[in-house]
Amino acid sequence: MTAPALFSLYGKTAIVTGATGLLGRQHCLALAEAGACVVVADLDLDTCRVVESTLPDRDHLSLRVDVTDPTSLVAARNSILEKYSRIHILVNNAAVNDMFENPALAAEQSKFEHYPLEMWRKSLEVNVTGVFLAAQIFGTPMAERGAGSIINIASTYGMVGPDQSLYQKPDGEQVFYKSPAYPATKGAVLNFTRYLAAYWGKNGVRVNSLSPGGVVNGQDEWFVDNYSRRTALGRMAQPTDYKGALVFLASDASAYMTGANVVVDGGWTAV
Ligand SMILES: NC(=O)c1ccc[n+]([C@@H]2O[C@H](COP(=O)([O-])OP(=O)(O)OC[C@H]3O[C@@H](n4cnc5c(N)ncnc54)[C@H](O)[C@@H]3O)[C@@H](O)[C@H]2O)c1
Repeated sequence: MTAPALFSLYGKTAIVTGATGLLGRQHCLALAEAGACVVVADLDLDTCRVVESTLPDRDHLSLRVDVTDPTSLVAARNSILEKYSRIHILVNNAAVNDMFENPALAAEQSKFEHYPLEMWRKSLEVNVTGVFLAAQIFGTPMAERGAGSIINIASTYGMVGPDQSLYQKPDGEQVFYKSPAYPATKGAVLNFTRYLAAYWGKNGVRVNSLSPGGVVNGQDEWFVDNYSRRTALGRMAQPTDYKGALVFLASDASAYMTGANVVVDGGWTAV
């Protein structure tokens, strides 16, 4: 196969969870640009349809999916199989990154010593159980057919502990502390990836993680400066910076790769 053919996703069906978020939209676009029919899946169907309307013209599908709800996932799987007969690619992208509602209280409330059990449980439910359920429900038909690629979106914070100084203003004020739940869930995603890669390897289903670094998204200038200074390439990511790695993992270009973690973080974890 030629190099461009290795990256082609023509004739493939891909589902992206959390598809209407900052990165989910880019994942959908990348897969569609590479030739796939994309299932845009998220909590709000109208927003899924808006995202679908931005994709290059092909036979895409929008579905309301709650990754914590097996009934919703099974209904989505049935709709996809009815329309396309096969599922080739799953991007487990949906996640929550918990925030504190009241900025004035955030520094106090986000301290580990006070971190609420309810927030911990919510993160585990979406970021870990949601990845497990979607992999089980969309991956089983892949394993039965003997082919598929599952991409679990993790994070730099799945590999290292948060640098809490990033959340400090130049005058030393700690605006908030990064939560214990997010890194714990992303670390779990990395090892779940290895588990499933080992389990489904002989069935032809490849399972890899993609670990993004922080993405520019209207943050305060002091935060962007802190983050950029701490990053080898000297900047935060643009939302489009993950498109190449995602298509690589989804396609035959990575045919001999499973159980891996592709780190795309501008060198953040290298410093
Ligand atoms: N943005 C970053 O800087 C960054 C950095 C590293 C990793 N990541 C990871 O990339 C992925 C996407 O991040 P993002 O910045 O686009 O987040 P985002 O908050 O913009 O989007 C997340 C999406 O997930 C959806 N979602 C939440 N709960 C859901 C559920 N129960 N069922 C279905 N969908 C649900 C939300 O509706 C939302 O559209 C996440 O896994 C995140 O942890 C993001």
